Amino acid sequence: MTKRYAPATERNRESILQVLREYLPEQGTVLEIAAGTGQHAAFFSRHLEPRFWLPTDMGAASLASIDSWREEVSSSNLLRSRELDVRDAVWPVEHALPAPISAVVNINMVHISPWECCTALFSGAARLLPSYGVVFMYGPFKCEGQHTAASNARFDSQLRSENPEWGVRDLEAVTDVAIACGFERRAAIEMPANNLSLVYGRTAGDAANASRPDAG
Ligand SMILES: C[S@@+](CC[C@H](N)C(=O)[O-])C[C@H]1O[C@@H](n2cnc3c(N)ncnc32)[C@H](O)[C@@H]1O
Repeated sequence: MTKRYAPATERNRESILQVLREYLPEQGTVLEIAAGTGQHAAFFSRHLEPRFWLPTDMGAASLASIDSWREEVSSSNLLRSRELDVRDAVWPVEHALPAPISAVVNINMVHISPWECCTALFSGAARLLPSYGVVFMYGPFKCEGQHTAASNARFDSQLRSENPEWGVRDLEAVTDVAIACGFERRAAIEMPANNLSLVYGRTAGDAANASRPDAG
């Protein structure tokens, strides 16, 4: 069976959609890193037209699942999935897009991957996004080194026992990486089930130097 199903996506998608509506640029292509099953892509693309939605992930099984959700919804703005490991030095996603990439969306990845994936996320976004570009992240985060809920602390221990390189990340550490890559935090929004939505935009100085995807 190629089509995968993650129940959590149906619980969090409405509240995430509200934040995306508020913060995503109104046009362009949204690049989703770590799209997982493809359920979010199928849902968000339907609700966020006229933006295009480009779902990516690692491995054939994920891509097959994303594309089988895509076939089911048949939204004309939902693009075929592409393979992308966020750590790739070049993200092979800019070619043959109907509109330049205006946002990078990353949901529930940085705690289930090594820390280098978080740094790679912002380096890649810095390479790709125009001055008005936005990075959106969602998941559990610690604030000032403290878990925001006992359930997040338990989840963190479980993740670390599964893989010592995984774990719930510090909001401030993520923001430090963002700043080092030329972004500033625009919002940190409390979400249901002790998660946060984080929104980063380019800092003014960096925005002036940002290479525009349509600048050739
Ligand atoms: C918990 S799932 C989240 C999937 C989806 N965003 C969601 O919320 O349902 C974590 C995802 O991160 C992806 N992932 C892990 N490491 C990655 C990497 N280096 N580059 C791209 N995706 C990665 C996995 O393949 C998986 O699909």
